[in-house]
Amino acid sequence: MNPTTTQGSGGLSNLVVRPLFERDLDRADRIYRTAFGTFLGAPEPEKFFGDVELVRTRWRADPAAAFGAELDGTLVGSNFLTNWGSVGFFGPLTVQPEHWDRGIARRLLEPTMDLFASWKTQHVGLLTFAESPKHVGLYQNFGFWPRYLIAALSAPVVPPERAVSYTKFSEVASHDRAGATGDVRELTSAVFDGLDITREFDAVLDQKLGETVLIYEASGLQAMAVCHIGPGTEAGSGMCYVKFGAARPGRKAAGSFGRLIDACQDLAATAGASVVSAGVNLGREQAYTALRQRGFRHEYQGVSMHRPNQPAYDKRNCYVIDDWR
Ligand SMILES: CC(C)(COP(=O)(O)OP(=O)(O)OC[C@H]1O[C@@H](n2cnc3c(N)ncnc32)[C@H](O)[C@@H]1OP(=O)(O)O)[C@@H](O)C(=O)NCCC(=O)NCCS
Repeated sequence: MNPTTTQGSGGLSNLVVRPLFERDLDRADRIYRTAFGTFLGAPEPEKFFGDVELVRTRWRADPAAAFGAELDGTLVGSNFLTNWGSVGFFGPLTVQPEHWDRGIARRLLEPTMDLFASWKTQHVGLLTFAESPKHVGLYQNFGFWPRYLIAALSAPVVPPERAVSYTKFSEVASHDRAGATGDVRELTSAVFDGLDITREFDAVLDQKLGETVLIYEASGLQAMAVCHIGPGTEAGSGMCYVKFGAARPGRKAAGSFGRLIDACQDLAATAGASVVSAGVNLGREQAYTALRQRGFRHEYQGVSMHRPNQPAYDKRNCYVIDDWR
């Protein structure tokens, strides 16, 4: 992407939107914390999210999928894209609070949407604040439509009563990894055609963010989950965050999903975490209900916005965990 300079609204004489570089990460991280902390009224906004890490980990996962907005030579905002094959989402999108409402997020969203188009992403989504007319309005301008609530849920870590058998991707022999990755692509494509979250495996493995669990039966892969664990990841201290989980669709899906939750609980307990968190779109009624029945409670909730205005895998019988945060 070529940097673009704009004569924007609100007195922006020299705004450049460009790729985000490694040298930007400390400032981008500070803006990310300060922006959310300010919006949510935190007493020390710059410390918001504690030791949770998203900016550096997402940039390292795909440095070409992040944009920065620079005003008069200073970074004032950034956005990160996630490419899950036929599905994509973006965030965290943040702008330094003193520059809000000057059109900077809008400028960051222009190359964002161009990049999704170049990836040929069929279904683009995001999680945002349902109660904020500004947020919903900003994204509506780019063709997104609000659909269901997304709940960020959490439950205390309770080691499963019965032994649960699962494979850790990090322990799969390197010559077998391509096969396991192919199994996961096949499973997620059965959930939604072309959905491919295997980049998350690489991020977790390369950056040591946690673990990917795979549940095989004689008939093949039945369920899988990518988990971030501990400080410096999307989970934070004491937490195991299920960034993505899915059970193979079909009559055994509910049982496989239950085993997947057991496996995540077991993984979390082994890693010394005290809380498991997992987000789910309420359009996935059965997955949401299963989590609630297993003791998960809402931490917070937002709204999913979709382009096009279609459910993708937010369907009643889709046993999928993710929250596009
Ligand atoms: C959300 C955030 C990124 C927006 O950045 P920004 O630079 O202030 O946004 P912009 O000025 O580019 O755009 C604001 C849009 O909201 C629209 N808007 C504001 N109030 C509105 C309302 N009541 N109804 C409808 N639209 C509204 C504006 O019209 C503008 O759209 P336009 O450019 O088409 O006119 C920024 O406020 C932020 O960092 N917030 C904290 C972190 C956060 O919430 N991130 C996003 C999480 S999904």
